[in-house]
Amino acid sequence: METTSLQRGQWGSRIGFILAAAGSAIGLGNIWRFPYLAGEGGGGAFVLIYLVCVVAIGMPYLFAELSLGRKSQRNPVGAIMAITGPKSMWIAVGAFCVLAGFIILSYYSVIAGWAVGYAVKDVIAPTMGFEEFAASPGIVIGLLAVFLLLTLVVVVGGIEQGIERWSKILLPILFVLMVLVIVRSVTLEGAAEGIAFFLIPDFSQVSLDLIIVALGQAFFTLSLGMGAMITYGSYLSKREDIAISGGYVVIFNTAIAFMAGFMIFPAIFAMGVDPATGPALVFVILPEVFAQMPLGGLVSFTFFVLLSIAALTSSISLLEVVVSYFVDETSWSRKKSVLIIGGLTFLMAIPSALSQGAVDIFSDMSFLFGEGGILGQNDFLSILDYLVGSAGLAIGAFFLSVFIAWIWGASEAAEELKQGSTILTRGMITTWVFMMKWIIPLVVAVIVIGNVLGVDV
Ligand code: PHE
Repeated sequence: METTSLQRGQWGSRIGFILAAAGSAIGLGNIWRFPYLAGEGGGGAFVLIYLVCVVAIGMPYLFAELSLGRKSQRNPVGAIMAITGPKSMWIAVGAFCVLAGFIILSYYSVIAGWAVGYAVKDVIAPTMGFEEFAASPGIVIGLLAVFLLLTLVVVVGGIEQGIERWSKILLPILFVLMVLVIVRSVTLEGAAEGIAFFLIPDFSQVSLDLIIVALGQAFFTLSLGMGAMITYGSYLSKREDIAISGGYVVIFNTAIAFMAGFMIFPAIFAMGVDPATGPALVFVILPEVFAQMPLGGLVSFTFFVLLSIAALTSSISLLEVVVSYFVDETSWSRKKSVLIIGGLTFLMAIPSALSQGAVDIFSDMSFLFGEGGILGQNDFLSILDYLVGSAGLAIGAFFLSVFIAWIWGASEAAEELKQGSTILTRGMITTWVFMMKWIIPLVVAVIVIGNVLGVDV
């Protein structure tokens, strides 16, 4: 089997893996979703709860996905099959992961395409507002194609030469660009108020709904619940320390979310804008804020370039989940898999691209979901995001955590986690096994129920 694992590829270095996995985690979730959720959820209180969810729930579960991947050296379907044999019902959970990767990639690329478009908006559509922009079929489909193509180019290069190499280049650029925008933002007059809103908790805002939303965000932002981290874990060497590397991924991802807050809230408060505007925050409110501030054109360009970069390092992990399945389980080469899946993703993304006003049946699906839609949204993109990106990830995380803790066995999983690890003490392992068996499935079940009942902040 030596040759198979060579063909499969492996991360070239610890830092390479950390940056690739952090790249998967760092994305629209940090720079678009987290700030608008924090804005709606009252600022500091949400941020604090989110932090607790990430460290106490997201991180231990991240270790579990990475361990399952490394143990089996396979994609999510193959990983489950490696433990259950080829005829188990649990394989459906792996299949769900691959399907979720495909679907999330489709609409994620549409939003990422807008980010690309906004970076060059002064050139391609200088006078358009967001509504008109998002409803222009030629523009959004063209941008989608550009973004998807970038994703394909990275993934076709493979693990070390593609994903790892590009993550090592792109993440430092992302960091530097964020620092530039932060410097501009926090030096605006009135910026302090935004920092206070973001950092000082106001506990009168806390509700069970808010906690559930924060938990869901913890899973989304760490790319959990759909096998991305199983897949990335499958390229880890047995010598690697999952706890240390995974810990760095959590630290980097959290740092970038905080930096996003420092980019956005000082600017918003300095310009006297309401932070609780929901998903429109980044594409509608921020451009208005940028337009009013000195050096705004340059800041806007920098911001949307960095948003595109963050989205790209995540979209490659979504595509890799699907590609790894075809590479491992069929006779397709990586190149063939990337081309076919890329083409299908493009087709799948078209309804989402056209769902923001361009085509009526995709923009208003009340014929399927009733007048109220889902959480008040009735467009194709928002509905996919809810069904797969929120509820789906929670359901995926539930079944995966039960699978790892009870079918594979938490103690078996702990053996894999311990392999190569120098920092895990016996007490930590015992705690982790307990968390995996009881706390995490329970907490994730609460997120699932919350999603079904339609929690919203
Ligand atoms: N974590 C990514 C983000 O924050 C999104 C993502 C989810 C990527 C699931 C891969 C898998 O944008």
